[in-house]
Amino acid sequence: MIQIAIMGLGTVGTGVAKVIAENSRQIERKLGEPLQVKRVLVRRFKDGPYRQLMTDDFTKIEEDDDIRVVVETIGGVDAAYEYTKRALMAGKHVVTANKQLVAEKGCELLALARRKNVSYLFEASVGGGIPVLHPLTQCMAANRIDEVYGILNGTTNYILTRMVRTGASFADALAEAQEKGYAEADPTADVEGIDAGRKTCILADLAFGHQVDPDNVPMEGISKLYLEDVKIAERGGYRIKLLGRAVRLPNGRSAYVAPHLIQEDHPMANVEDVFNAVMVKGNATGDVMFYGRGAGEMPTASACVSDVMEVLQSSARRDEINWSEDGEGFVDPAELKNRYYFRIPGSLTIAAADFGEVEVLSEGSETAFLTEPITGREAQAHAERLRAIACLRVLG
Ligand SMILES: NC(=O)c1ccc[n+]([C@@H]2O[C@H](COP(=O)([O-])OP(=O)(O)OC[C@H]3O[C@@H](n4cnc5c(N)ncnc54)[C@H](OP(=O)(O)O)[C@@H]3O)[C@@H](O)[C@H]2O)c1
Repeated sequence: MIQIAIMGLGTVGTGVAKVIAENSRQIERKLGEPLQVKRVLVRRFKDGPYRQLMTDDFTKIEEDDDIRVVVETIGGVDAAYEYTKRALMAGKHVVTANKQLVAEKGCELLALARRKNVSYLFEASVGGGIPVLHPLTQCMAANRIDEVYGILNGTTNYILTRMVRTGASFADALAEAQEKGYAEADPTADVEGIDAGRKTCILADLAFGHQVDPDNVPMEGISKLYLEDVKIAERGGYRIKLLGRAVRLPNGRSAYVAPHLIQEDHPMANVEDVFNAVMVKGNATGDVMFYGRGAGEMPTASACVSDVMEVLQSSARRDEINWSEDGEGFVDPAELKNRYYFRIPGSLTIAAADFGEVEVLSEGSETAFLTEPITGREAQAHAERLRAIACLRVLG
Protein backbone atom coordinates (compact mmCIF):
# COMPACT_ATOMS: atom_id res chain seq x y z
CA MET A 1 0.00 0.00 0.00
CA ILE A 2 1.36 3.41 -1.03
CA GLN A 3 0.08 6.30 1.04
CA ILE A 4 -0.20 9.94 0.09
CA ALA A 5 -1.66 13.17 1.49
CA ILE A 6 -3.66 15.94 -0.15
CA MET A 7 -3.28 19.54 1.07
CA GLY A 8 -6.35 21.68 0.26
CA LEU A 9 -9.66 19.94 -0.39
CA GLY A 10 -11.18 22.31 -2.95
CA THR A 11 -12.00 21.65 -6.60
CA VAL A 12 -8.72 20.00 -7.60
CA GLY A 13 -7.98 18.35 -4.23
CA THR A 14 -11.41 16.68 -4.25
CA GLY A 15 -10.81 15.62 -7.86
CA VAL A 16 -7.52 13.98 -6.86
CA ALA A 17 -9.29 11.92 -4.17
CA LYS A 18 -12.03 10.98 -6.68
CA VAL A 19 -9.62 9.93 -9.45
CA ILE A 20 -7.70 7.74 -6.99
CA ALA A 21 -10.94 6.11 -5.80
CA GLU A 22 -12.60 5.74 -9.22
CA ASN A 23 -9.52 4.46 -11.06
CA SER A 24 -8.06 2.42 -8.20
CA ARG A 25 -7.84 -0.80 -10.25
CA GLN A 26 -5.91 0.75 -13.17
CA ILE A 27 -3.65 2.66 -10.77
CA GLU A 28 -2.90 -0.46 -8.73
CA ARG A 29 -2.15 -2.47 -11.87
CA LYS A 30 0.39 0.15 -12.97
CA LEU A 31 1.99 0.74 -9.58
CA GLY A 32 1.89 -2.88 -8.45
CA GLU A 33 0.33 -1.77 -5.14
CA PRO A 34 -2.84 0.08 -4.12
CA LEU A 35 -2.63 3.88 -3.80
CA GLN A 36 -4.38 5.34 -0.78
CA VAL A 37 -5.07 8.86 0.51
CA LYS A 38 -4.08 8.72 4.18
CA ARG A 39 -4.54 12.37 5.19
CA VAL A 40 -6.23 15.49 3.87
CA LEU A 41 -5.10 18.88 5.18
CA VAL A 42 -7.95 21.39 5.58
CA ARG A 43 -8.47 24.75 7.25
CA ARG A 44 -12.02 23.97 8.31
CA PHE A 45 -13.48 20.53 8.97
CA LYS A 46 -16.38 19.68 6.66
CA ASP A 47 -18.73 16.71 6.54
CA GLY A 48 -18.41 14.41 3.57
CA PRO A 49 -16.67 11.28 2.36
CA TYR A 50 -13.18 12.44 3.46
CA ARG A 51 -14.14 13.57 7.00
CA GLN A 52 -12.19 10.70 8.63
CA LEU A 53 -8.99 11.65 6.80
CA MET A 54 -9.06 15.38 7.63
CA THR A 55 -6.56 17.18 9.78
CA ASP A 56 -5.79 20.87 10.24
CA ASP A 57 -2.34 20.05 11.65
CA PHE A 58 0.37 19.89 8.96
CA THR A 59 2.80 18.07 11.29
CA LYS A 60 0.51 15.01 11.02
CA ILE A 61 1.61 14.83 7.39
CA GLU A 62 5.15 16.10 7.81
CA GLU A 63 6.03 13.59 10.53
CA ASP A 64 4.29 10.58 9.03
CA ASP A 65 6.97 8.44 7.35
CA ASP A 66 4.31 6.31 5.63
CA ILE A 67 3.24 9.31 3.51
CA ARG A 68 5.55 9.32 0.50
CA VAL A 69 3.87 11.89 -1.72
CA VAL A 70 2.02 15.12 -0.90
CA VAL A 71 -0.34 16.70 -3.42
CA GLU A 72 -0.56 20.47 -2.90
CA THR A 73 -3.84 21.93 -4.15
CA ILE A 74 -4.14 24.88 -1.77
CA GLY A 75 -3.15 27.48 -4.38
CA GLY A 76 -1.40 30.84 -3.91
CA VAL A 77 1.99 31.28 -2.32
CA ASP A 78 1.80 31.72 1.48
CA ALA A 79 0.70 28.46 3.12
CA ALA A 80 1.35 26.42 -0.03
CA TYR A 81 5.00 27.60 -0.16
CA GLU A 82 5.59 26.94 3.53
CA TYR A 83 4.08 23.44 3.46
CA THR A 84 5.76 22.50 0.18
CA LYS A 85 9.19 23.41 1.56
CA ARG A 86 8.55 21.46 4.75
CA ALA A 87 7.24 18.41 2.89
CA LEU A 88 10.31 18.38 0.61
CA MET A 89 12.60 18.87 3.64
CA ALA A 90 10.89 15.87 5.23
CA GLY A 91 11.90 13.80 2.17
CA LYS A 92 8.47 13.60 0.55
CA HIS A 93 7.76 14.05 -3.15
CA VAL A 94 5.43 16.97 -3.86
CA VAL A 95 3.02 17.25 -6.78
CA THR A 96 1.04 20.42 -7.47
CA ALA A 97 -1.41 22.24 -9.74
CA ASN A 98 -0.35 25.61 -8.28
CA LYS A 99 0.95 27.73 -11.17
CA GLN A 100 1.50 30.81 -9.06
CA LEU A 101 3.83 28.98 -6.69
CA VAL A 102 5.71 27.25 -9.52
CA ALA A 103 6.08 30.48 -11.54
CA GLU A 104 7.33 32.45 -8.52
CA LYS A 105 9.24 29.87 -6.47
CA GLY A 106 9.68 26.87 -8.77
CA CYS A 107 13.43 27.26 -9.19
CA GLU A 108 14.03 27.29 -5.44
CA LEU A 109 11.65 24.39 -4.77
CA LEU A 110 13.19 22.26 -7.54
CA ALA A 111 16.66 22.89 -6.09
CA LEU A 112 15.42 21.88 -2.63
CA ALA A 113 13.82 18.73 -4.07
CA ARG A 114 17.11 17.80 -5.77
CA ARG A 115 19.03 18.28 -2.50
CA LYS A 116 16.60 15.98 -0.71
CA ASN A 117 16.61 13.49 -3.63
CA VAL A 118 12.85 13.75 -4.15
CA SER A 119 10.70 15.15 -6.97
CA TYR A 120 8.64 18.31 -7.36
CA LEU A 121 6.27 17.85 -10.31
CA PHE A 122 3.61 20.23 -11.64
CA GLU A 123 2.14 18.95 -14.91
CA ALA A 124 -1.33 20.21 -13.85
CA SER A 125 -0.07 23.79 -13.44
CA VAL A 126 -0.12 24.45 -17.21
CA GLY A 127 -2.99 23.27 -19.40
CA GLY A 128 -4.82 21.41 -16.58
CA GLY A 129 -5.52 17.96 -18.00
CA ILE A 130 -3.47 18.46 -21.18
CA PRO A 131 -0.10 16.70 -20.99
CA VAL A 132 2.29 19.43 -22.11
CA LEU A 133 5.18 19.86 -19.66
CA HIS A 134 6.12 16.20 -19.81
CA PRO A 135 6.16 16.06 -23.65
CA LEU A 136 7.99 19.40 -23.78
CA THR A 137 10.77 18.24 -21.46
CA GLN A 138 10.94 14.54 -22.36
CA CYS A 139 9.45 13.62 -25.71
CA MET A 140 10.88 16.78 -27.34
CA ALA A 141 14.14 16.68 -25.36
CA ALA A 142 16.22 16.27 -28.52
CA ASN A 143 15.01 19.64 -29.84
CA ARG A 144 16.04 23.22 -29.35
CA ILE A 145 12.71 24.82 -28.44
CA ASP A 146 12.44 28.11 -30.33
CA GLU A 147 8.99 29.22 -29.30
CA VAL A 148 6.00 28.19 -27.19
CA TYR A 149 2.65 29.94 -27.35
CA GLY A 150 -0.89 29.10 -26.50
CA ILE A 151 -4.39 29.73 -25.33
CA LEU A 152 -3.69 29.10 -21.68
CA ASN A 153 -6.82 30.38 -19.96
CA GLY A 154 -10.20 28.73 -20.49
CA THR A 155 -12.26 31.54 -18.93
CA THR A 156 -11.03 34.19 -21.37
CA ASN A 157 -11.32 31.80 -24.30
CA TYR A 158 -14.95 31.13 -23.35
CA ILE A 159 -15.62 34.89 -23.17
CA LEU A 160 -14.00 35.51 -26.57
CA THR A 161 -15.94 32.60 -28.12
CA ARG A 162 -19.23 34.05 -26.83
CA MET A 163 -18.34 37.50 -28.17
CA VAL A 164 -17.81 36.00 -31.65
CA ARG A 165 -20.77 33.60 -31.63
CA THR A 166 -23.47 35.73 -30.01
CA GLY A 167 -22.20 39.28 -30.43
CA ALA A 168 -22.14 39.73 -26.63
CA SER A 169 -20.03 42.53 -25.17
CA PHE A 170 -17.08 41.65 -22.93
CA ALA A 171 -19.12 42.53 -19.80
CA ASP A 172 -22.12 40.37 -20.85
CA ALA A 173 -19.92 37.43 -21.86
CA LEU A 174 -18.08 37.65 -18.52
CA ALA A 175 -21.40 37.67 -16.61
CA GLU A 176 -22.46 34.55 -18.55
CA ALA A 177 -19.12 32.83 -17.76
CA GLN A 178 -19.64 33.61 -14.06
CA GLU A 179 -23.19 32.22 -14.17
CA LYS A 180 -21.90 28.97 -15.67
CA GLY A 181 -19.13 28.69 -13.07
CA TYR A 182 -16.34 29.20 -15.65
CA ALA A 183 -15.24 32.50 -14.11
CA GLU A 184 -14.56 33.34 -10.47
CA ALA A 185 -16.51 36.05 -8.62
CA ASP A 186 -13.26 38.04 -8.81
CA PRO A 187 -12.16 37.34 -12.40
CA THR A 188 -9.09 39.64 -12.33
CA ALA A 189 -6.40 36.94 -12.62
CA ASP A 190 -8.14 35.46 -15.66
CA VAL A 191 -9.32 38.50 -17.61
CA GLU A 192 -6.20 40.59 -16.99
CA GLY A 193 -3.91 37.84 -18.32
CA ILE A 194 -2.21 37.08 -14.98
CA ASP A 195 -3.14 33.39 -14.91
CA ALA A 196 -1.97 32.96 -18.53
CA GLY A 197 1.18 34.91 -17.63
CA ARG A 198 2.14 32.52 -14.83
CA LYS A 199 1.70 29.55 -17.17
CA THR A 200 3.72 31.32 -19.86
CA CYS A 201 6.57 31.77 -17.35
CA ILE A 202 6.56 28.05 -16.49
CA LEU A 203 6.60 27.11 -20.19
CA ALA A 204 9.46 29.57 -20.82
CA ASP A 205 11.43 28.32 -17.78
CA LEU A 206 11.26 24.74 -19.02
CA ALA A 207 11.67 25.49 -22.73
CA PHE A 208 14.67 27.81 -22.38
CA GLY A 209 16.24 26.63 -19.10
CA HIS A 210 16.36 30.04 -17.40
CA GLN A 211 14.05 31.61 -14.83
CA VAL A 212 11.55 34.02 -16.38
CA ASP A 213 10.34 36.25 -13.58
CA PRO A 214 6.57 36.92 -13.74
CA ASP A 215 7.31 40.54 -12.68
CA ASN A 216 9.17 41.11 -15.99
CA VAL A 217 6.45 39.66 -18.19
CA PRO A 218 3.89 42.19 -19.52
CA MET A 219 0.43 40.69 -19.04
CA GLU A 220 -2.36 42.28 -21.03
CA GLY A 221 -5.79 40.68 -20.77
CA ILE A 222 -9.06 41.08 -22.65
CA SER A 223 -10.97 43.47 -20.37
CA LYS A 224 -10.27 46.42 -22.69
CA LEU A 225 -11.18 44.55 -25.88
CA TYR A 226 -14.03 46.07 -27.91
CA LEU A 227 -16.72 43.95 -29.53
CA GLU A 228 -16.26 46.17 -32.62
CA ASP A 229 -12.70 44.86 -33.12
CA VAL A 230 -13.82 41.25 -32.61
CA LYS A 231 -16.41 41.80 -35.39
CA ILE A 232 -14.02 43.59 -37.78
CA ALA A 233 -11.43 40.82 -37.27
CA GLU A 234 -14.09 38.15 -37.90
CA ARG A 235 -15.23 39.80 -41.15
CA GLY A 236 -11.59 40.04 -42.26
CA GLY A 237 -10.97 36.30 -41.66
CA TYR A 238 -9.33 36.56 -38.22
CA ARG A 239 -10.24 35.50 -34.66
CA ILE A 240 -9.01 37.32 -31.58
CA LYS A 241 -7.45 35.03 -28.95
CA LEU A 242 -5.56 35.72 -25.74
CA LEU A 243 -2.10 34.20 -26.21
CA GLY A 244 0.77 33.66 -23.81
CA ARG A 245 3.96 33.62 -25.87
CA ALA A 246 7.59 32.78 -25.04
CA VAL A 247 10.26 33.23 -27.71
CA ARG A 248 13.94 32.27 -27.92
CA LEU A 249 16.02 35.13 -29.35
CA PRO A 250 19.66 35.29 -30.47
CA ASN A 251 20.41 37.45 -27.43
CA GLY A 252 18.14 35.80 -24.85
CA ARG A 253 14.44 35.16 -24.46
CA SER A 254 11.21 37.06 -24.17
CA ALA A 255 7.68 36.42 -22.96
CA TYR A 256 4.37 38.25 -22.74
CA VAL A 257 0.60 37.80 -22.71
CA ALA A 258 -1.67 39.78 -25.05
CA PRO A 259 -4.70 39.40 -27.32
CA HIS A 260 -3.73 38.54 -30.91
CA LEU A 261 -5.53 38.37 -34.23
CA ILE A 262 -5.10 34.86 -35.66
CA GLN A 263 -5.99 33.86 -39.24
CA GLU A 264 -9.12 31.71 -39.16
CA ASP A 265 -7.46 28.73 -40.90
CA HIS A 266 -4.78 28.52 -38.18
CA PRO A 267 -5.49 25.59 -35.79
CA MET A 268 -5.25 27.94 -32.77
CA ALA A 269 -8.10 30.10 -34.17
CA ASN A 270 -10.49 27.16 -33.85
CA VAL A 271 -9.80 26.42 -30.20
CA GLU A 272 -13.11 27.45 -28.66
CA ASP A 273 -15.03 27.67 -25.38
CA VAL A 274 -13.06 26.62 -22.30
CA PHE A 275 -10.55 24.59 -24.31
CA ASN A 276 -6.82 25.36 -24.20
CA ALA A 277 -4.06 24.70 -26.71
CA VAL A 278 -0.28 24.98 -26.62
CA MET A 279 1.95 25.17 -29.70
CA VAL A 280 5.60 24.17 -29.28
CA LYS A 281 8.11 24.91 -32.05
CA GLY A 282 11.03 22.50 -31.92
CA ASN A 283 13.91 22.89 -34.36
CA ALA A 284 13.64 19.20 -35.31
CA THR A 285 9.90 18.54 -34.86
CA GLY A 286 8.54 21.79 -36.26
CA ASP A 287 5.15 22.77 -34.82
CA VAL A 288 3.56 20.41 -32.28
CA MET A 289 0.18 21.35 -30.83
CA PHE A 290 -1.42 20.12 -27.60
CA TYR A 291 -5.18 20.58 -27.16
CA GLY A 292 -7.73 19.75 -24.47
CA ARG A 293 -9.44 20.80 -21.27
CA GLY A 294 -7.18 23.25 -19.51
CA ALA A 295 -9.01 23.23 -16.18
CA GLY A 296 -11.77 21.56 -14.20
CA GLU A 297 -11.90 19.12 -11.32
CA MET A 298 -11.28 15.81 -13.07
CA PRO A 299 -8.94 16.86 -15.94
CA THR A 300 -6.66 18.75 -13.54
CA ALA A 301 -6.78 15.93 -11.00
CA SER A 302 -5.85 13.47 -13.73
CA ALA A 303 -2.59 15.35 -14.31
CA CYS A 304 -1.86 15.48 -10.55
CA VAL A 305 -2.45 11.75 -10.04
CA SER A 306 -0.36 10.90 -13.12
CA ASP A 307 2.49 12.92 -11.57
CA VAL A 308 2.03 11.01 -8.30
CA MET A 309 2.32 7.74 -10.22
CA GLU A 310 5.35 9.02 -12.08
CA VAL A 311 7.31 9.95 -8.93
CA LEU A 312 6.53 6.54 -7.49
CA GLN A 313 7.60 4.68 -10.63
CA SER A 314 10.70 6.53 -11.74
CA SER A 315 13.93 7.74 -10.23
CA ALA A 316 13.70 10.98 -8.26
CA ARG A 317 16.32 12.62 -10.46
CA ARG A 318 14.22 14.28 -13.12
CA ASP A 319 16.99 16.54 -14.36
CA GLU A 320 14.99 17.71 -17.37
CA ILE A 321 12.42 19.33 -15.03
CA ASN A 322 14.77 22.12 -14.08
CA TRP A 323 15.96 25.63 -14.90
CA SER A 324 18.63 28.02 -13.73
CA GLU A 325 17.90 30.95 -11.46
CA ASP A 326 19.88 33.27 -13.71
CA GLY A 327 17.30 35.63 -15.20
CA GLU A 328 19.86 37.45 -17.40
CA GLY A 329 19.01 37.75 -21.08
CA PHE A 330 15.33 38.61 -20.72
CA VAL A 331 14.50 40.87 -23.66
CA ASP A 332 11.69 43.41 -23.35
CA PRO A 333 8.87 42.09 -25.59
CA ALA A 334 8.46 45.66 -26.93
CA GLU A 335 11.54 44.78 -29.06
CA LEU A 336 9.72 41.88 -30.78
CA LYS A 337 8.37 42.44 -34.29
CA ASN A 338 4.79 41.57 -35.20
CA ARG A 339 2.22 42.67 -37.71
CA TYR A 340 -0.24 44.94 -35.91
CA TYR A 341 -3.96 45.65 -36.17
CA PHE A 342 -5.00 49.28 -35.69
CA ARG A 343 -8.40 50.94 -35.52
CA ILE A 344 -8.07 54.68 -35.75
CA PRO A 345 -10.45 57.62 -36.04
CA GLY A 346 -10.36 59.05 -39.54
CA SER A 347 -9.65 57.89 -43.05
CA LEU A 348 -7.15 55.66 -44.78
CA THR A 349 -5.14 58.74 -45.83
CA ILE A 350 -4.14 59.25 -42.20
CA ALA A 351 -3.05 55.61 -41.87
CA ALA A 352 -1.19 55.77 -45.19
CA ALA A 353 0.72 58.85 -44.04
CA ASP A 354 2.04 56.88 -41.07
CA PHE A 355 2.52 53.41 -42.55
CA GLY A 356 2.50 53.61 -46.35
CA GLU A 357 0.88 50.41 -47.67
CA VAL A 358 -1.52 48.65 -45.24
CA GLU A 359 -4.11 45.84 -45.49
CA VAL A 360 -7.46 47.52 -44.93
CA LEU A 361 -10.10 45.57 -42.97
CA SER A 362 -12.73 48.28 -42.62
CA GLU A 363 -13.24 51.86 -43.79
CA GLY A 364 -15.64 54.64 -42.79
CA SER A 365 -15.43 57.34 -40.15
CA GLU A 366 -12.92 54.96 -38.59
CA THR A 367 -10.33 52.83 -40.37
CA ALA A 368 -9.13 49.37 -39.33
CA PHE A 369 -6.04 47.95 -40.99
CA LEU A 370 -3.08 45.59 -40.60
CA THR A 371 0.53 46.79 -40.81
CA GLU A 372 3.72 45.14 -41.94
CA PRO A 373 5.88 43.80 -39.03
CA ILE A 374 6.94 46.53 -36.59
CA THR A 375 8.25 46.39 -33.02
CA GLY A 376 5.94 46.81 -30.03
CA ARG A 377 7.72 50.07 -29.27
CA GLU A 378 7.00 51.41 -32.78
CA ALA A 379 3.39 50.23 -32.54
CA GLN A 380 2.97 52.11 -29.27
CA ALA A 381 4.35 55.33 -30.79
CA HIS A 382 2.05 55.04 -33.84
CA ALA A 383 -0.93 54.29 -31.56
CA GLU A 384 -0.31 57.46 -29.55
CA ARG A 385 0.24 59.65 -32.62
CA LEU A 386 -2.87 58.33 -34.41
CA ARG A 387 -4.97 58.27 -31.21
CA ALA A 388 -5.71 54.62 -32.00
CA ILE A 389 -8.89 53.14 -30.52
CA ALA A 390 -7.39 49.67 -30.75
CA CYS A 391 -3.87 48.35 -31.33
CA LEU A 392 -3.43 44.56 -31.26
CA ARG A 393 -0.74 42.11 -32.37
CA VAL A 394 -1.29 39.69 -35.26
CA LEU A 395 0.09 36.15 -34.88
CA GLY A 396 2.55 35.07 -37.57
N1 LIG B 1 -9.78 24.62 -10.57
C1 LIG B 1 -9.10 24.29 -11.65
O1 LIG B 1 -9.69 23.90 -12.66
C2 LIG B 1 -7.60 24.39 -11.68
C3 LIG B 1 -6.92 24.02 -12.86
C4 LIG B 1 -5.53 24.05 -12.88
C5 LIG B 1 -4.85 24.48 -11.76
N2 LIG B 1 -5.53 24.84 -10.64
C6 LIG B 1 -4.76 25.28 -9.48
O2 LIG B 1 -4.96 24.34 -8.44
C7 LIG B 1 -4.90 24.99 -7.19
C8 LIG B 1 -6.19 24.73 -6.42
O3 LIG B 1 -7.27 25.24 -7.17
P1 LIG B 1 -8.78 24.92 -6.80
O4 LIG B 1 -9.59 25.40 -7.94
O5 LIG B 1 -8.93 23.53 -6.33
O6 LIG B 1 -8.98 25.95 -5.59
P2 LIG B 1 -10.08 25.88 -4.43
O7 LIG B 1 -11.29 25.18 -4.91
O8 LIG B 1 -10.21 27.26 -3.90
O9 LIG B 1 -9.39 24.95 -3.34
C9 LIG B 1 -8.36 25.34 -2.50
C10 LIG B 1 -8.58 24.63 -1.18
O10 LIG B 1 -7.45 24.86 -0.34
C11 LIG B 1 -7.95 25.11 0.96
N3 LIG B 1 -6.97 25.88 1.74
C12 LIG B 1 -6.62 27.18 1.62
N4 LIG B 1 -5.67 27.49 2.52
C13 LIG B 1 -5.43 26.37 3.21
C14 LIG B 1 -4.57 26.06 4.28
N5 LIG B 1 -3.76 26.98 4.81
N6 LIG B 1 -4.57 24.80 4.77
C15 LIG B 1 -5.40 23.85 4.24
N7 LIG B 1 -6.23 24.08 3.24
C16 LIG B 1 -6.26 25.33 2.73
C17 LIG B 1 -9.23 25.89 0.76
O11 LIG B 1 -10.00 25.78 1.92
P3 LIG B 1 -11.30 26.70 2.23
O12 LIG B 1 -12.41 25.97 1.54
O13 LIG B 1 -11.35 26.68 3.69
O14 LIG B 1 -11.02 28.05 1.64
C18 LIG B 1 -9.82 25.14 -0.44
O15 LIG B 1 -10.60 24.04 -0.02
C19 LIG B 1 -4.66 26.47 -7.50
O16 LIG B 1 -3.29 26.73 -7.44
C20 LIG B 1 -5.16 26.61 -8.92
O17 LIG B 1 -4.52 27.66 -9.62
C21 LIG B 1 -6.88 24.82 -10.59
